[in-house]
Amino acid sequence: MIMPRLYGERIMLREYKKEDLEHMRKWVNDPEVVNNLSDLFLFPHPHRVTESFLDTMLEGNAEVKGFVIADKETEAYIGQIDLIKTDWKNRVGTLGIVIGAKENRGKGIGEEAIRLLQDFAFNRLNLNKLELTLRDYNVQGYKCYQKCGFVEEGRIMQNFYVDGIYTDTIHMGVLKSEYEKSK
Ligand SMILES: CC(C)(COP(=O)(O)OP(=O)(O)OC[C@H]1O[C@@H](n2cnc3c(N)ncnc32)[C@H](O)[C@@H]1OP(=O)(O)O)[C@@H](O)C(=O)NCCC(=O)NCCS
Repeated sequence: MIMPRLYGERIMLREYKKEDLEHMRKWVNDPEVVNNLSDLFLFPHPHRVTESFLDTMLEGNAEVKGFVIADKETEAYIGQIDLIKTDWKNRVGTLGIVIGAKENRGKGIGEEAIRLLQDFAFNRLNLNKLELTLRDYNVQGYKCYQKCGFVEEGRIMQNFYVDGIYTDTIHMGVLKSEYEKSK
């Protein structure tokens, strides 16, 4: 049966809630997290900016189509997984994911969340491809995406400056046909 929330073994992908704000605030200014993201996070994020993002998600009509990664039993916030852009004509979705607390990273939650989103994107939204970009030093992310069938499609050389060095941006993608094989 098709359910609006998506359930994995340990987690669910659920709708955003007002109470998620305090949990989002914990990572939006954490360099360990935001150094892996875009320059949208270059300056400290004021409370209002996080609140405003959450408001658009609560309205439900934002361009970003997103889920909160939550504990399956308690619904407690763990992180976010979003289709930050969807190209409906070419059937390509761009993925963004964050697991807020360090103690929840590296335990397979990212993989579980991505697999749920892949099933949703390919089999319910009828997308043909998911893609994402990551910083070349994000080994944890790279390994996680590889486990989920993403392959490296290319690198943009030295287009991201952080902590005194220029770093590459890696483009990864997975096709629906390849995802079916990797299940
Ligand atoms: C990227 C992210 C979503 C991945 O989720 P996750 O739950 O940590 O990923 P998983 O546990 O499923 O997989 C991570 C893999 O990297 C491995 N790993 C963890 N730390 C590592 C390190 N320092 N070096 C190499 N491998 C590492 C893990 O062992 C695991 O592989 P395994 O299952 O073969 O053991 C999460 O780490 C995160 O939110 N990071 C901070 C924000 C971020 O980088 N967002 C993505 C931007 S593109």
